Amino acid sequence: MYKIAVIPGDGTGPEVVNEGLKVLKTVSEKYKFEYETKIFNFDGERYLKTGKLLENEDIEELKKYSAIYLGAIGHPDVKPGILETGILLKLRFSLDQYINLRPVKLYNEKFCPLKDKKPQDIDFVVVRENSEGLYKGLGEFKNKGAKDEVAIQTSYNTRKGVERCIRYAFEYCRKRNKAKKLTLCGKTNVLTYAWDLWQRTFNEVAKEYPDITTDYAHVDATTMWFVKNPEWFDVIVTDNMFGDIITDLGAMIQGGMGIAAGGNINPQGVSMFEPIGGSAPKYTGKNVINPLAAICAMGMMLELLGEEKPAKAVEDSVIKIVNTKLKSLSAGKMGYSTSEIGDLVVKNL
Ligand code: IPM
Ligand code: MN
Repeated sequence: MYKIAVIPGDGTGPEVVNEGLKVLKTVSEKYKFEYETKIFNFDGERYLKTGKLLENEDIEELKKYSAIYLGAIGHPDVKPGILETGILLKLRFSLDQYINLRPVKLYNEKFCPLKDKKPQDIDFVVVRENSEGLYKGLGEFKNKGAKDEVAIQTSYNTRKGVERCIRYAFEYCRKRNKAKKLTLCGKTNVLTYAWDLWQRTFNEVAKEYPDITTDYAHVDATTMWFVKNPEWFDVIVTDNMFGDIITDLGAMIQGGMGIAAGGNINPQGVSMFEPIGGSAPKYTGKNVINPLAAICAMGMMLELLGEEKPAKAVEDSVIKIVNTKLKSLSAGKMGYSTSEIGDLVVKNL
C-alpha cells in the first residue's frame, strides 16, 4: 500500500494535480496496486492566513509517506522568495532530496521550436544536484545600502554532496542504457574552486564505470549545444544553479513547460515529483493549463515506486495524446481543456 502525500499548492497546481490523481486511480485499478492519498495545504493561502511556511512537524509527517506529489508553489500576493525558500526548497533540503531529475524528451517534432530536430534528437536527462551550491543560501551583505555595498553569495560544494550526485548520475546512465554517455556540465575555466572539486570527483568516480563514456561541457557551451546539437546528450550531471538554468531551456526544446516534469529524489528516503512550470497565476482556475507535465511527474513517481509497467503505460498514453490530439502544448491553445486532457489520457489507458 503506497502512501502518497499530495501538496496541490498554489495557482494552477490543484488543477493539474487533479488530473495526475485521475491517472493514478486508473492505473492502480488496471495494474492492481493499492494506494492512499492525503492532501496537505502547504501553500501560499495557508501562509497568508497563518504565517506558516513549512513547520518541523510538517516535515516529520511527510517522512511517513512513500512519495510526495506536488502541484506548484508561488502566490501572486506573496513577495517572491518567501514561499520558494520556505516551502519548496525547505522540502527539498529537509527531506535531503539531493537529486533533481529532469528528463528532456521531445514527443512530437511539431512542438519543437528548433528547426529539423526530431524526437530521436531530443531525448536526454539532466541530473541536477539539489541540496547545495548557490542554493545553500550562504553569503552576506557588507555595508548594506551604502555606495560601497558588497553582496556575497557563496556556492557551497562538499565532496560528499558532489560525489553522491555524480555516482547517482553514473548509475542512472548505466541503467538508462542508451548512448551510455555522461556529460559533466560545469565552468572549470572560471569557477576554479567548485568546478575543480566537481571535475576531480567526476574523474575519480568515472574509473568505476568503464562502460560509460564521459564528456565535459562548459555550461555556456551546453546552452549552445542544446539548441544546435541536442542529440549529443544522453545524461548530463551538473550543480544546482546550472541545472536550474539549463533545464528551463531543456523544457523549451521538448515542447514547453506544459510537458516538463521533474523528480526531487532521495534514493534512501521520500522523493517528490512535480511539473516544473510553476503556479502560472494568470491561468489559475480557468481549466486551460496543460496537465501533461503533472501527469508525466506522476509517471516518474510510479517508476520510482517500482511500478514500471504503469509508469510506462502513463508515458505511452501521454505520447499518444500528444501525437494524435493536441494542437499545441501551451495553456489555452491545446484544443482541449485541462480536465479534457486528463480524461483523454485516462481513456487511452
Ligand atoms: C525549479 C524552480 C525553483 C528552483 C524555484 C521555484 C525555487 O525554478 O524547480 O527549477 O529554482 O529550483
Ligand atoms: Mn527552475
